[in-house]
Amino acid sequence: RTVPASAALVEKGNYRHFMEKEIHDQPEGCQRTIAAYVDTLTGRTDISGGIDFAGLSRIQIVACGTSYIAGLMGKYLIEQFADLPVDVEIASEFRYRHPALRPDGLVVAMSQSGETADTLAALRYCQGKGMKSAAVVNATESTMAREVDVVWPIHCGPEIGVASTKAFTAQVAVLTALAIAAARARGKIDAAEEQRMVRLLLEAPRLVAESIKLEDAVRAVAQEVSKARDVLYLGRGPMYPLALEGALKLKEISYIHAEGYAAGELKHGPIALVDEQTPIVILAPFDSYFEKSASNMNEVMARGGQVVFITDADGERHAPSGARVVVTAPRCDPLVAPLVYAPPIQLLAYHVAVLKGADVDQPRNLAKSVTVE
Ligand code: G6P
Repeated sequence: RTVPASAALVEKGNYRHFMEKEIHDQPEGCQRTIAAYVDTLTGRTDISGGIDFAGLSRIQIVACGTSYIAGLMGKYLIEQFADLPVDVEIASEFRYRHPALRPDGLVVAMSQSGETADTLAALRYCQGKGMKSAAVVNATESTMAREVDVVWPIHCGPEIGVASTKAFTAQVAVLTALAIAAARARGKIDAAEEQRMVRLLLEAPRLVAESIKLEDAVRAVAQEVSKARDVLYLGRGPMYPLALEGALKLKEISYIHAEGYAAGELKHGPIALVDEQTPIVILAPFDSYFEKSASNMNEVMARGGQVVFITDADGERHAPSGARVVVTAPRCDPLVAPLVYAPPIQLLAYHVAVLKGADVDQPRNLAKSVTVE
């Protein structure tokens, strides 16, 4: 199999794989993304396209794969800060199930390539119902970008690895800026709070860089995980979509069966899988969800589960003892935790795949862009 033509224009530099390079590109990529959506002089968000967030009844996000998971993160952020209802749906379901839509909603297609067939069809379906449309894309010349009212580019540069990494964090960065802008437009935050949130967002690239420095610690975890048959990822709040993304990355490139679950659902099924051979990755920054995640950690440890606890220094101090490994991420505000906790799970999948000798950039049976159904 060949690497897509565009890869010829992009160098791997000193990296073994495009995916590894793209993980390491993220601080710079996020910085470019954020710079496009905030005005550093005024400290305010700067979202082009004239969308009246105050007048919207709801946002409908449609997407596939990792872009769907980024959309789910967007729902958490936009509903929490802007009190604006957001539905997120897998495009292949949405396009055929006759969803109830109203013209005063905004459809947002999330797509790195801007060409995914199901996402495009779902977008057109909403447009046919009279909805205004936007696309969060990396490829600004793509079909989706051409067909929407507003394009919100993610500006992270070409992504060559089939498994999406830097496009994911850039998508999440755009959605964070959108959440702040919508919150301000809807009167949920004042100008001073907007500036405070923008400052946090501007600090995110530095924290993402710090988080990438966890690579050695994560490589050690990968040794253990590479022997597993099944891996569970658990998280609450915004760490739930990230748990889904961690599991998706691992199965895509290492071919190990992995499931991401909302930690609160543990008792409703996945706990049955827990045994001494099952690594359980728990994503738990020291935030308002921490205590509950720590209690989930106890539940799985009581059943012999091997916990990989990804937290921060405060979380490490307050965590129940007994985790197989603790990976200590930089302390950060919950607003940017989705960006800061992404690199460790991407690096974990990457190093497991490398250890297993898998073709990291071109995993079997997967394509970078799925333009047919
Ligand atoms: C494929 C890729 C994934 C990607 C998904 C959606 O499955 O392998 O990495 O997340 O398509 O692609 P899009 O270009 O719409 O974001």
